Amino acid sequence: MKIREVHARRVWDSRGRPTVEVEVINEDGTTGCGIAPAGASRGTREAVELRDGGQRFKGLDVQAALRGIEHEIAPALAGQEVTNQSGIDATLIALDGTPNKARLGGNALTATSLAVLSAAAAHARLPLWQYLAGGRPVALPLPQIQIFGGGAHAGRRVDVQDFMVIAAGAATFAQALEMTAEVYRAAGELMAARGPLSGVADEGGWWPSFSRNEEALDTLVAAIEKAGFIPGDEVAIALDIAASEFGQGGRYRLALENEELDSDALCERLVGWVDRYPIVSIEDPLAEDDEAGLVAFTRAVGHRIQVVGDDYLVTNAARVHAAAALGACNTVLIKPNQAGTVTETLAALEAAQSLGYATIVSARSGETEDVAIVHLATGWNAGQLKVGSFARSERMAKWNEGVRIETRPHAPVRFAGRAALAGGRKA
Ligand code: PGA
Ligand code: ZN
Repeated sequence: MKIREVHARRVWDSRGRPTVEVEVINEDGTTGCGIAPAGASRGTREAVELRDGGQRFKGLDVQAALRGIEHEIAPALAGQEVTNQSGIDATLIALDGTPNKARLGGNALTATSLAVLSAAAAHARLPLWQYLAGGRPVALPLPQIQIFGGGAHAGRRVDVQDFMVIAAGAATFAQALEMTAEVYRAAGELMAARGPLSGVADEGGWWPSFSRNEEALDTLVAAIEKAGFIPGDEVAIALDIAASEFGQGGRYRLALENEELDSDALCERLVGWVDRYPIVSIEDPLAEDDEAGLVAFTRAVGHRIQVVGDDYLVTNAARVHAAAALGACNTVLIKPNQAGTVTETLAALEAAQSLGYATIVSARSGETEDVAIVHLATGWNAGQLKVGSFARSERMAKWNEGVRIETRPHAPVRFAGRAALAGGRKA
């Protein structure tokens, strides 16, 4: 089936900022849409967004990206076979012509590539996850769900960016959400009772006013217990330190504790947390430029817990291979807009799977109602999914889509469960 038309429009993300939506129309009239999300704590090697600059919307408008789609991408894609995802993505990459997609914009390419994928599934008259699975057995991903937001998503009120839970004891995706709903509510009640509740952060997690990073961990354990679950066994903790946000050149500044740590000291601090708290996963424990630190941390705890590379690996297959050769991380965060096309995203995921690394498909802090990543996580059998907290509809739309896939009539889809976690401590 050939593509007839490609259109672009400006829509708005969950932070009220402009973003790019692309609609692909096939010759048979079936259509597909894709919307680019936007990160706030980005790796330096990610595909670059094209933003207009200037005064309008604080420089964040996307008119140049829309013009590039209408004038360059649309004519190049018209008449191409919609199911030839890798060929179309190669066309997009060649058209852009830069190593980091800066000319046409990673936002333009991501939205286009996802729209093509969704149009191909629409032509096949299949839900996207099923189109991607191509008849292989797949499983619903184990969710990582944020309870407190910090770092760049909450005015840097706490240094650690995401305090999340993993409902390791859940037998189904729906049950994982039920358990998380109870913990999220319990955490909000505890914080309201103790005073440090200041609303919700960018991804819907409670915006905390803790005085130490460990106070967040203590409160999270208390919330898991208050919700009636055994910490670690039924509901475990996952952290995204996002250390590139507060560290560079092997020096880390913890604002909350008013401490400056070197790489070894931060590593030791985090290993101490792994020893004392029911943590099963830590993302970006050290900064993206601290490869030696990432290797040392993985050597110290990689056999026990997940060590996840986000800013460091930026959904790039070559970087995943290089990290594996060094022994850095054992899990890869997969964000389509870090790579810029579906094909490059899949290449990073397949590289990880071939090396025995676990994979987590992830949303961004700036999101929309687009639920494609839930289908990618399921159809590609990624094992895990991270889309922020358990509030706000740009997040809930994704969790609800997982429920729809799991409970579809006649042919329920299996749940990956705790077996999807890397590291020995599977809670
Ligand atoms: P971002 O953060 O979307 O703001 O970059 C998400 C993450 O670090 O995982
Ligand atoms: Zn991250």
